[in-house]
Amino acid sequence: MPHLTQDIHQHRILILDFGSQYTQLIARRIREIGVYCEIWPWDVSAAEILEFKPQGVILSGGPESATTKDGPSARPVVFELGVPVLGICYGLHTMAAQLGGRVEPSDEKEFGYAEVELVHSSGLFDGITDRVGENNNDRLDVWMSHGDKVTRLPHGFTTVASTASAPVCAIADESRHFYGVQFHPEVTHTNKGMEILQRFVLEICHCDAHWTAANIIEDAVSNIRRDVGSDHVLLGLSGGVDSSVVAAMLHEAIGDQLTCIFVDTGLLRYREGDQVMATFARHMGVHVIRVDARERFLTGLKGVEDPEKKRKVIGNLFIDIFEEQAKDCTRSDHDVKWLAQGTIYPDVIESAGSRTGKAHVIKSHHNVGGLPDYMQMKLIEPLRELFKDEVRRIGMQLGLAPEMVHRHPFPGPGLGVRILGEVREEYLEPLAKADHIFIEELRNHDLYDKVSQAFAVFLPVKSVGVVGDQRSYEWVVALRAVETIDFMTAIWSRLPYEFLEKVSLRIINEINGISRVVYDISGKPPATIEWE
Ligand code: XMP
Repeated sequence: MPHLTQDIHQHRILILDFGSQYTQLIARRIREIGVYCEIWPWDVSAAEILEFKPQGVILSGGPESATTKDGPSARPVVFELGVPVLGICYGLHTMAAQLGGRVEPSDEKEFGYAEVELVHSSGLFDGITDRVGENNNDRLDVWMSHGDKVTRLPHGFTTVASTASAPVCAIADESRHFYGVQFHPEVTHTNKGMEILQRFVLEICHCDAHWTAANIIEDAVSNIRRDVGSDHVLLGLSGGVDSSVVAAMLHEAIGDQLTCIFVDTGLLRYREGDQVMATFARHMGVHVIRVDARERFLTGLKGVEDPEKKRKVIGNLFIDIFEEQAKDCTRSDHDVKWLAQGTIYPDVIESAGSRTGKAHVIKSHHNVGGLPDYMQMKLIEPLRELFKDEVRRIGMQLGLAPEMVHRHPFPGPGLGVRILGEVREEYLEPLAKADHIFIEELRNHDLYDKVSQAFAVFLPVKSVGVVGDQRSYEWVVALRAVETIDFMTAIWSRLPYEFLEKVSLRIINEINGISRVVYDISGKPPATIEWE
């Protein structure tokens, strides 16, 4: 690797979050452009803002109205830093109001598509256009969502874009490099949104694009080497994307100073345990201790029907086993001083929250449930600054297979919550196989990446069927496939009937004990994605 001469965090944008559902999207776009950025609650202190030394500030949208006195506002220091500021939607409103303009509720609310006319030259938009109107002004297709409007411009500002219902749709103070847009450049429906953000970040804020997968890895690797020295690091490897990428990253950084503990609960996907061992231990040469704990989990789950109790049993057993193994490791090798975790940036943002509204709680994000005090390990979290899409890109760059880094999420309790009621050993294999057939066919039909999550659920009820001339009386499997952005709400996937028929036939023909397949057509809400 070439030596990294530039600090990849040096050029950075600060995003102040006013509560918009798109704030993380703004950050992801800035990172895609190749520039580091952080999201902070809008009420972060002036001292912290000064210390961060951003090269530009973006004020996000938000649900509040800047027409009320007690609406959230940016710290005045934001406008005194001498760096460019971009206000988006609510960010525009608060900037306008704070700098001496006026914002009023609008009679005409605008949601969705709008055509914006560029009415004045501006450093933010010049040369960016979707089409030219009859009056020779450039026009942009944008996505709007707002209820308020700017009715008086602050001193030094000019209106640079308008729509039919929002005469002041974008404003600019070119001398101070302050810009405000009523629409959302971060959403893909705003056709030229990425170009506008690029213009702001690269040209107006003069940021260099150093935030690339290769540079991020190089930076992380050298930090890990510096912090860890010759110590040993322990990682709970689950086979999920985050812990897999942590393993690959740590292996790159410290090689055999890393020991992974992989607990095979017996509740994993089809042949997943073997796959994890093949990928990490065999191909990458990572030191992985595989703990075959299937019997222990099955014994612990015997007679337990309640989903929450099952989760507890599984979680506790996992922690017990991990602790036993970790203790063995530390005993046999006294240098194990670090515990690695797959915490990612959205977990960090969620933990910080807003200091006004929500309590400032730190989410107990322990993949392994925390370790007892006597182990006194230090935490290492190499993905702490990264969004999921960045984690995936880095995983690919580190040589993990695309199937691994683009996998659908899989719940910690695994098949334990996909077998309804008591988990019995005889249900596990048919369920894992049915799930495998479903996923395999999704991949064969190029549908895997079109759905956000897909899986099979084992219903421990028997139904009557006919196999050959014989009456059968066997178990039922349900298929679930959903489309979602954030997994908080979801719609069921409209998979083609022919595809579903093929999956159903394969499951019934290839798996003993299943004679009926059903497809789940419930949205979330009211149903959850998992059945338990
Ligand atoms: P629900 O079922 O709540 O699922 O709509 C939303 C997302 O979370 C996953 N999920 C879990 N993940 N432990 C986990 O690590 C759990 O206990 C758990 N329950 C649900 C689920 O697979 C979906 O992606």
